[in-house]
Amino acid sequence: MKRKGFIFDLDGVIVDTAKYHFLAWKKLAKKIDIDFTETQNEQLKGVSRVKSLEKILAWGNKSISDTQFAALMGEKNDEYLSYINKMDTTEILPDVPRVLDYITEEKQGISLGSASKNARMILDKVKLIEKFEAIVDGNDVSKAKPDPEVFLIAADQIRVKPEDCIVFEDSVAGIQAANTANMISIGIGEKEVLHEADYIFKDFTALTPEFLQELINR
Ligand code: BG6
Ligand code: MG
Repeated sequence: MKRKGFIFDLDGVIVDTAKYHFLAWKKLAKKIDIDFTETQNEQLKGVSRVKSLEKILAWGNKSISDTQFAALMGEKNDEYLSYINKMDTTEILPDVPRVLDYITEEKQGISLGSASKNARMILDKVKLIEKFEAIVDGNDVSKAKPDPEVFLIAADQIRVKPEDCIVFEDSVAGIQAANTANMISIGIGEKEVLHEADYIFKDFTALTPEFLQELINR
């Protein structure tokens, strides 16, 4: 049996930081007189900081200078980090440690594949950094999800072929990236949103040892 690679997105999969990204973007958008809906917010999930601001400006029909753009990016991140700084282990989503431990005990590969440049800091805060054999984040890629780059590097770093990898994702862009990379995609969230995924679960509590074993045995 070949060793499999389990690749985890971070925001919205391991920790509920998706809500903090939303709050920080909402506040920034309001400041520049742009409002966006919950549905539009789905399109920001998994997407890099630069791409997110570009989308928000496009929704509001606004164009700004490069200097203003850089300033707004900084502001958004400062606001986001004010939430992150208060994080601790209680913010790990239910059953994530159980699933990580199961995969480790089964001697399978574990990588992080996140768009965030704050990923290492967050994993450190919630004390999960040691669980990952490789961490690939927004500092390591040149192309944002839905491009598969982040997952391909994550697979390569644990020496597992893309077709032997399984990706856990809460974003549409991330599911598309996993599918393009020829990996098994597991959506964590709503069926209506993540319908392109190979499997969809509301959260990790529904991921039984039997199902995980099935993925390992494939
Ligand atoms: C992704 C989030 O994980 O990381 C996005 O889903 C976010 O919402 C992106 O924009 C970049 O994160 P950061 O921490 O580098 O601003
Ligand atoms: Mg995510």
